[in-house]
Amino acid sequence: MQTVSTLVELRLAVDDLRKSGTIALVPTMGALHEGHLTLMREARRHADHVVASIFVNPTQFGPNEDLDAYPRRLAEDAALLEAEGVALLWAPTVEAMYPTGFATSISVSGVSEGLCGASRPGHFDGVATVVCKLFNQVRPDHALFGEKDWQQLAVIRTMARDLDLVLPQVSNIHGVPTVREADGLAMSSRNAYLSPEQRAAAVTLPRAMRAAIEDIEAGDNVAGALMRLRAALAEAGFGPVDYVTLADATSLAPLAETPQGPARLLVAARIGGTRLIDNMPVGPAKGEE
Ligand code: PAF
Repeated sequence: MQTVSTLVELRLAVDDLRKSGTIALVPTMGALHEGHLTLMREARRHADHVVASIFVNPTQFGPNEDLDAYPRRLAEDAALLEAEGVALLWAPTVEAMYPTGFATSISVSGVSEGLCGASRPGHFDGVATVVCKLFNQVRPDHALFGEKDWQQLAVIRTMARDLDLVLPQVSNIHGVPTVREADGLAMSSRNAYLSPEQRAAAVTLPRAMRAAIEDIEAGDNVAGALMRLRAALAEAGFGPVDYVTLADATSLAPLAETPQGPARLLVAARIGGTRLIDNMPVGPAKGEE
């Protein structure tokens, strides 16, 4: 595996790979876990070569968020990627990504406004901008993202559609189902911040979500099911809950009634200082988890 950190090296390496086949890009912020490695394996099914990027993107962190504390372990991550057969690691510096005078931002209205967009102002502008840059830098045939960040995936697909991106085209932006720990907690680089007690309590999140989904699918009142989910989180020691929402799976518009089409239950809640998010399919045509 080759590792490059300048745009000139990247262009040469990508041109070289393209001579012998198609390219799938897996953008990450590093601190890789099994969820990321699943994305790499899935990427290999879609294309001849996998390019992974590791870039802790400052523009998607708010002023009071964990940018400085975000785990950075490039050497260990590179070894994991190499073992997965990744051909090229793109690990730019902040200066390479955002040179002095950088002045452009992509803002996707609608789908990025509620949920995490409401509690993390500017977050999805940072995500859309950096992902658009990564797409232009690598020009992949395919790109893969985890469904754990369901709203992020919706924002990226909308951005690609609205900006007529050809590489990758929207249908080649693939969502990969969330990888979970044995007890059901969604894998996340932020789980490393949890104390043993917080980690034990965190499992309430997927469990209470599954209970709420069972109730909703059985025809229970949606507001009541969501209220019980909030109460279960509070009882387990979760602090502020940013949102507990049943939403249309594509538009992310909130649903107050039992869903008739594909829907998602989405939650963001803090335990100690750590903000955890999760989402699961609800109702007919779930299929993917
Ligand atoms: O999901 C992530 O790790 C990041 O938001 C992404 C897509 C790599 C953009 O920085």
